[in-house]
Amino acid sequence: MQIDFSDCSVPGCGDPDAAIGVFDSGVGGLTVLQELRRLLPQENLIYLGDTARVPYGTKSAETVQKYACEAAAFLVGKRVKMVVVACNTASSVALDLLREQLPVPVIGVIEPGASGAIRVSRSGIVGVIGTEGTVASDAYPQALRALNPEVQVYSAPCPLFVPLAEEGWAQHQIAALAAQEYLAPLLAASIDTLVLGCTHYPLLKPTLKQLLPTKVELVDSAWETAQMVWQILQAGGMLNRTSSGEWQFFVTDVPRRFVRVGGAFLGADLAAVERVRLASASV
Ligand code: DGL
Repeated sequence: MQIDFSDCSVPGCGDPDAAIGVFDSGVGGLTVLQELRRLLPQENLIYLGDTARVPYGTKSAETVQKYACEAAAFLVGKRVKMVVVACNTASSVALDLLREQLPVPVIGVIEPGASGAIRVSRSGIVGVIGTEGTVASDAYPQALRALNPEVQVYSAPCPLFVPLAEEGWAQHQIAALAAQEYLAPLLAASIDTLVLGCTHYPLLKPTLKQLLPTKVELVDSAWETAQMVWQILQAGGMLNRTSSGEWQFFVTDVPRRFVRVGGAFLGADLAAVERVRLASASV
């Protein structure tokens, strides 16, 4: 994907030293932030978790679009050079709208996840797991078919994985039992690739690997997205070369739970987290 950063008139957009803005419905997007941090340690990152309104995965597309516009507008107000929609549900239903409305480039997680799956799948039979909203949107199958019209896609919502990951039970036998139920139809379809289409699912990788035949490759949309962000910034001459990488965290409800649960998602302690109010957006 090529993006022309000079196309943009708002402050921050054409500035390589501006931060990358990342938003999610809550803590989950910290898995994307962690991958961005690993790959792009010199980038300044501003993260917004919409903790007052999480989960997005059970809500209607219209509601998630409204929330996503408000979250993204907050980040644009911080003069970011790019917005990364870490939330799979928001990426599924709001990406086109965000791209129309925002004056900065917007990267979602669906397209990177889909291209990762097409790259690794040998049989062209791909499984996708995500929230109810992500699966209902059909965004992953559409993105996969856009890259390879022959691909066969089998999707399954796995709603229990989100609370299990937040509870610290991603490796617990309850998670293994839930995974067994959720993945049975996908295994019956002989998938050879499984897209982890939700921010929380990378935490379940060890549990999923134990259950899946070794031929099944896991595609982590968080990792794939970080690779795509790197490529886009590199191609656009927009990599930050001056900073040692600062990060800032904002949430829309009291930060207590975000700080406690988020450490496991980020793989690091969360220090200063500020509560903010989002301006309402009409969609
Ligand atoms: N962040 C959401 C996603 O990736 C999962 C949590 C939620 O439902 O809000 O789809």
